[in-house]
Amino acid sequence: MTVGHIVLIGLMGSGKTTVGRKLASVIGRRFVDTDEEVERRTGRTVREIFETDGEQAFRLIEHRALADTMATPEPLVVAAAGGAVLREDNRSLLGGPHRVVWLKAEPELLIERVGRRRGHRPLLDDDPDLKLRQLWSERDPIYRSLADDTIDVSDKTVDGLCSEIAELLA
Ligand code: S3P
Repeated sequence: MTVGHIVLIGLMGSGKTTVGRKLASVIGRRFVDTDEEVERRTGRTVREIFETDGEQAFRLIEHRALADTMATPEPLVVAAAGGAVLREDNRSLLGGPHRVVWLKAEPELLIERVGRRRGHRPLLDDDPDLKLRQLWSERDPIYRSLADDTIDVSDKTVDGLCSEIAELLA
């Protein structure tokens, strides 16, 4: 039997990296975050790539990072960066034996959270409130269509979310 990866999807600020890292340690899998993978491969930050080469170039590197990550035989916990679901070829990569978990949050919560950590998120430089609301409307249907499971993250701790996901997988 092929054992798939657990892939966390959702908007910036939904907690994919924090929850994914903790979940991986709880269930004994390696954790890969696609933004970190992009930075590791290129030796550049996500912000530098956006600012120097533009979003399109970033999306291509992101695609390669996701494709290689998904092709890893060892079952992983993967945090797929918020925009990774935009390309059809990326969406196809999430099918098959993998378990896609959508960390769902209302725009208000995301706005409150990303206000504190905007470093690798150049899309939010100008008007984060407006941009997050736009991205929420554009992407909500995409996340919904890809999700095997949906978890509402509001009012939950990282440990609580990990237990909830681990129970889904049991
Ligand atoms: C993006 C999300 C970011 C990062 C980049 C673009 C997006 O990752 O890849 O700033 O388009 O939603 P996180 O979702 O990990 O914040």
